[in-house]
Amino acid sequence: MRSPSRFLPCLALTLAACGGGGGGEQIVKPIDTIPQLPTQSLRQLAETRHPRVAIGVAVGGLFQSSNARSQQFMTILPREFNALTPENDLKFGPLRPTRETYNYTRADAMVAFARANNMKARGHVLVWHQQNPGWLTNGTWTRDQAIQILEEHIANVVGHYRGQLAAWDVVNEAFEDGAAPLRQSVWMQRIGRDYIERAFRAARAADPTVALYYNDYNIEGLGAKSDSVYELLRDFKARGVPVDGVGMQAHFIAGQLPATMRQNMDRFAALGLKIQITELDIRVPTSSVGGASAASLATQAQNYRDVFNLCLQVQACDMVVVWGMTDADSWVPGTFPGQGDALLYDAFFNPKPAYTAVRGLLAGN
Ligand code: XIL
Repeated sequence: MRSPSRFLPCLALTLAACGGGGGGEQIVKPIDTIPQLPTQSLRQLAETRHPRVAIGVAVGGLFQSSNARSQQFMTILPREFNALTPENDLKFGPLRPTRETYNYTRADAMVAFARANNMKARGHVLVWHQQNPGWLTNGTWTRDQAIQILEEHIANVVGHYRGQLAAWDVVNEAFEDGAAPLRQSVWMQRIGRDYIERAFRAARAADPTVALYYNDYNIEGLGAKSDSVYELLRDFKARGVPVDGVGMQAHFIAGQLPATMRQNMDRFAALGLKIQITELDIRVPTSSVGGASAASLATQAQNYRDVFNLCLQVQACDMVVVWGMTDADSWVPGTFPGQGDALLYDAFFNPKPAYTAVRGLLAGN
């Protein structure tokens, strides 16, 4: 696979010198007759050279909107990616604003788009402590009532997409950081620690074939939090609680990838679990004048390559999802002030060094 940069010296010279026309004759061609450079998309490279590993992207506000940016997004989406995750539309609050109302419209459109374009779709997320509706968090539920709400939710939502998704994030971020006790979420407070097991059993009952994932952040390397998740899933496997995989979110800082990712992935794989990198982004400092430095974007590019390479190396890993397409649409700047530019495309849909690095990896360069 030749990279476009090989052609750049030629473009930088006079076209006469490049085109080989003798005697200084004018051979300048109109721009639209210059042939397309022979590059393959990330998706094409993955499907031809690494068919085990899907490459996904979170889709949010730019999906099928009526503006120019959305059109660019929709063009790039099925060209470069063969998997997608609705970024917010399947979360409890957006999906179910009242106990009786399920707003499936947007997520349905995303899943239908994925099917029509031969892409996988991940369901994100059934049970979480954030983005829950007020009626749920403010209600004075008994334990039995809370179990009823949890189970009816999972039966409805997983049943709605039965047979259509590659994976569900059944439970997200159940552990605190640090010593990693279970987080005091609405579910933990109303039901107790068995809410996790109940959620997985309910999901399996509603769809017998979809892969069921536990998903979390700061569990990508060895440490107290990934130990807690490991112990939870080891116990589930030992007792036959239905769980198929562990989702590692991978919201990283450039230059600070955990050094023990490979060992950590290997130990989860040894439990018989699949692994997906579910929300990859790699943020850099953006507060200096002029924004992100070239050096930080180069580090980011290497880090992207390293994460994708880990998934290629570890047999149990079958998907890497980046958490958004462009730097302008990422959750990062709003959540981590002074940091951003964490994705593969800049704000104007130009591929960044990180994109080129991933493409080089997939192409075998
Ligand atoms: C984020 C979305 O990207 C934002 O649009 C939203 O406002 C908040 O949630 N961990 C998760 C994701 O599991 O669902 C979060 O997504 C990012 C952190």
